[in-house]
Amino acid sequence: MAYQGTILKYSQFLPVNNQTPIISLNEGNTALVPAPYIAKLCKVPGLKVYLKMEGLNPSGSFKDRGMTMAVSKAVEKGATKIICASTGNTSASAAAYSARARAMGYQMDCFVIIPAGYVALGKLSQAMIYGAKVIQIEGNFDKALEIVRSLTEKYPIELVNSVNPFRIQGQKTGAYEICDELGSAPDYLCIPVGNAGNITAYWAGFTDYVRNPKDRPRMYGYQAEGSAPIVRGHVVEKPETVGTAIRIGNPASWKQALTARDESRGLIDMVSDEEMLSAYRIIHQQEGLACEPASAASVAGLIKSAHAGQIIPESVAVCILTGNGLKDPQTAMKQSDMASAEQVHKADEHSIAEVLGLLSVR
Ligand code: F0G
Repeated sequence: MAYQGTILKYSQFLPVNNQTPIISLNEGNTALVPAPYIAKLCKVPGLKVYLKMEGLNPSGSFKDRGMTMAVSKAVEKGATKIICASTGNTSASAAAYSARARAMGYQMDCFVIIPAGYVALGKLSQAMIYGAKVIQIEGNFDKALEIVRSLTEKYPIELVNSVNPFRIQGQKTGAYEICDELGSAPDYLCIPVGNAGNITAYWAGFTDYVRNPKDRPRMYGYQAEGSAPIVRGHVVEKPETVGTAIRIGNPASWKQALTARDESRGLIDMVSDEEMLSAYRIIHQQEGLACEPASAASVAGLIKSAHAGQIIPESVAVCILTGNGLKDPQTAMKQSDMASAEQVHKADEHSIAEVLGLLSVR
């Protein structure tokens, strides 16, 4: 049978039954691509590095794995409205799956609350064109989450942030796919940490799927230095980072992230914006792969941990590239040679050959 998305593929591990309407966009089944250049940069003998391309999901991020579950369960219980706070990707995903619910004949409205000025252009435009009602607020993600949590306690509207347990259940399928593809779990799972739902989900997934605890990976989570409450051990009131997806000062799944770290004998560390952007350029320019800035925290973190002696020789590391490169075109432009790209030249072969430096090589 043709591939039909994560719920049908892994239904035995998920809280669904024959009565559950499956709202799917054929999410999942994302590529796991070797990254030889990054492996070499780590300077760990025999290290193999793979990047899990979660930006290949239908709305361009890993959120789709959780959203197919959350929206299916919302429809199952008869909900007609969903809401989320978001740094952008959750809102794009929620908007897409509510449109899909409508395609299946269900009434479903989607409301998204986002921090004004801090959502990458690609994500904002997605939420809008998929038909969500977009509300921008003056506060940050943490404030937006506070508001939607309170609203959903008072009004008949379903919360689809990762505090919704079905989101976490759905996101476990990323771990299953990695094990299926590699034939076993990797030694290290490197992952950006924002609200800490995904690290929680991956650990739950590996725990389900890998019977012997010794064969499960160490969870290596990475926050941005300016938004690193878990690393610092306290709430960050004014989080800042170029990786706006993980600009979060008070993660909802904080405790679960610590459990994942401790049970897996892993770590949660932080990377600077410069380290994140350097990894972002390397992923694009030296591997030919793409992701958004926050996703590059996983690669920046792996490199940092490897250089600190926290990755053993002959091991396998998987970095989750959580979001698509096209989500944040503005940062991509800023990280490139804008001055030369913006210059407009005469349509003249000789002068173009000169600009390309070809005249001297003849
Ligand atoms: N990477 C990307 C691209 C994200 O969008 C997010 C979270 C994360 C990593 C971190 O995952 O929150 O489970 O620890 N984005 C959320 C959103 C907050 O609203 O789209 P997490």
